[in-house]
Amino acid sequence: MSMCSSSSVSLSTKSWIVHSIVAGAAIAAAIGAGAYLGRYRKFRSRVVGIIPARYASSRFEGKPLVNILGKPMIQRTWERAKLASTLDHIVVATDDEKIAECCRGFGADVVMTSESCRNGTERCNEALQKLDKKYDVVVNIQGDEPLIEPEIIDGIVKALQAAPDAVFSTAVTALKPEDAFDPNRVKCVVDNRGYAIYFSRGLIPYNKTGKVNPQFPYMLHLGIQSYDSKFLKIYPELQPTPLQLEEDLEQLKVLENGYKMKVIKVDHEAHGVDIPEDVEKIETLMRERSIS
Ligand SMILES: *[C@@H]1O[C@H](CO)[C@@H](O)[C@H](O)[C@H]1NC(C)=O
Ligand SMILES: *[C@@H]1O[C@H](CO)[C@@H](O)[C@H](O)[C@H]1NC(C)=O
Repeated sequence: MSMCSSSSVSLSTKSWIVHSIVAGAAIAAAIGAGAYLGRYRKFRSRVVGIIPARYASSRFEGKPLVNILGKPMIQRTWERAKLASTLDHIVVATDDEKIAECCRGFGADVVMTSESCRNGTERCNEALQKLDKKYDVVVNIQGDEPLIEPEIIDGIVKALQAAPDAVFSTAVTALKPEDAFDPNRVKCVVDNRGYAIYFSRGLIPYNKTGKVNPQFPYMLHLGIQSYDSKFLKIYPELQPTPLQLEEDLEQLKVLENGYKMKVIKVDHEAHGVDIPEDVEKIETLMRERSIS
């Protein structure tokens, strides 16, 4: 198997902004919780990364297998995930034999999931149940972000390990002013300890001038998320909630049910592949940055 070249890694060496004092306090709390549980191993120590991949997609049929500079997109995502130091195991969860075959071909472990999975979270949950080993944390790694930085994966895992009162962790990055009023860019606000307060397709916070405040550090939500595995089992079963339905944002269901979600701030340019036209854009960018 061929791992990413070191030049591709340099793209991701930008550090993320984690508030060290808060993190320190949370780590102390986590150690406290670990001691309370009478365990010697680290809190939520066993971590699995799951890459959910389906073939059928309304906007982009066969998306996981699309070729990006000579490699299937799913392979690029998987190779990035392999570089994360917090993952004990990585699997691709798919309902499609072609995807499974391709993934086994480049060395990935594959779990077959049913076609009835309605979304990536359900697929992750089904895959988790089918794994032989037990895991405390599941990272849901979207297969359509072939340039995902391993540091972001590690960042959300460590955040969840350090915040025993949270069941979910995710990442945000600086919102570009031109994306402020784009409903497909989800905004997020957090409290002063880094727990999510709210997510919206609208601009939050909203300046009373009605315009983007160039001074305000607005945050864009990134798709990557990790869950406590006990929570993942009940997450798909939680009934839809009013704010979730109104905004069409799954993660609001978590907050509306009173669960806590830890959010880390990262330096990341989103290069998601949603439609066929995105492939060319990402290849151009990779050539510019000499990522092979
Ligand atoms: C709103 O945005 C402006 C800049 O556009 C800023 O000066 C002001 O402090 C912001 N907040 C309020 C309450 O106006
Ligand atoms: C996934 O789909 C199920 C069934 O439609 C739904 O209950 C759930 O809210 C969806 N999302 C998540 C994150 O579980």
